[in-house]
Amino acid sequence: MPAIIPDVSPRGKFITFEGLDGSGKSTQIAKLARGLRARGISVVVTREPGGTTTGEKIREVILHSATAGLSPYAEMALMFASRAQHIHQVILPALAEGQIVLCDRFTDSTEAYQGGGRKLGSKSVLQLHEVLCGNLQPDLTILLDNDVNLTIDRARRRNRQHKTKRPDKDENRFEQESRAFFGRVRNAYLAIADREHQRVHIVDARGTPRETHAVIMELVRKRLRL
Ligand code: TYD
Repeated sequence: MPAIIPDVSPRGKFITFEGLDGSGKSTQIAKLARGLRARGISVVVTREPGGTTTGEKIREVILHSATAGLSPYAEMALMFASRAQHIHQVILPALAEGQIVLCDRFTDSTEAYQGGGRKLGSKSVLQLHEVLCGNLQPDLTILLDNDVNLTIDRARRRNRQHKTKRPDKDENRFEQESRAFFGRVRNAYLAIADREHQRVHIVDARGTPRETHAVIMELVRKRLRL
């Protein structure tokens, strides 16, 4: 079998952000990137699904509300197709150059949304991660946790605004899911954090963006020994 993941010992650090839609990940990633760059650290900010030309095309298909009748397994396969390309084209090269990669969502999202939300279970997600992603693990995962109802309302409001401004850019498919779906997603996230407590840190995202940023900066500072 061809080696999918080149045998390099990554010198950079891989930090992923997780949480429900509307949990404030993008704001926190932008703040952390600014904070690290201000210390002269080279940072790559990227996201999933997406992060490459191929991945962004896959993203459009998965998130568009007109994508109807997509089977949960097809959805999971597309998430992994985007991820495999992303690892190959962006994440591993950046780590090999010693950069810090800040990634908005990674395989924990698939375990939470497809494994938990869509009830496909964790096992198939972890098996696919092993085969398609060479079992690449983040050095640190920040799980932004918040009240399910509050978070989903925020995500729906934001996407409605985006839709008015950019009708061509529709990323609403997941926001249409039920509260029960997001409840299962959150429970799956908490189970991952419990199982992988060395890697996954739960950050209470109910404070102001500034308060949450201070907690994250401290966590990253300790972990990266800045
Ligand atoms: P994202 O752009 O992070 O949404 P938001 O900014 O609203 O948090 O992610 C898009 C959607 O894709 C989100 O609803 C979660 C979903 N998703 C999965 O279901 N599985 C996955 O593996 C990933 C990466 C995302």
